Amino acid sequence: MLFSLAFFACGSETVSESGELLTGEEIYTARCSACHGPNLEGRVGPALHKESSAAKMPDSYWIQTITMGKGSMPAVRLNDNEVQLVIDYIKSKY
Ligand code: HEC
Repeated sequence: MLFSLAFFACGSETVSESGELLTGEEIYTARCSACHGPNLEGRVGPALHKESSAAKMPDSYWIQTITMGKGSMPAVRLNDNEVQLVIDYIKSKY
């Protein structure tokens, strides 16, 4: 738990320092698509498309999964804004 928090804090700092501005689509392609598929169809990770169980979950579940990791999914280092952008991008496909 402490490790996850430190990891997340470190991640947001790195990102804001670099001042990178990415769209939700770019974040998805760079950080999620290798495991969840370019079209949300799933690969190593489960599908995230509109018929998936994840689609029925609230944003809070998505935020927790992305920032803390879940089961065999590692935490993805993104700041709050980037997490929201990538969720909005995925949900814009529904
Ligand atoms: C290294 C591979 C990997 C990467 C990168 C990855 N995931 Fe995952 N993801 C997984 C795996 C594996 C699971 C299943 C975890 C479990 O339940 O054991 C998962 C689960 C999830 C879930 C929950 C699905 C459900 O049905 O409850 C969501 C939501 C999710 N990932 C979103 C994302 C997003 C958004 C990104 C990019 C920011 C991302 N993942 C990056 C492998 C990955």
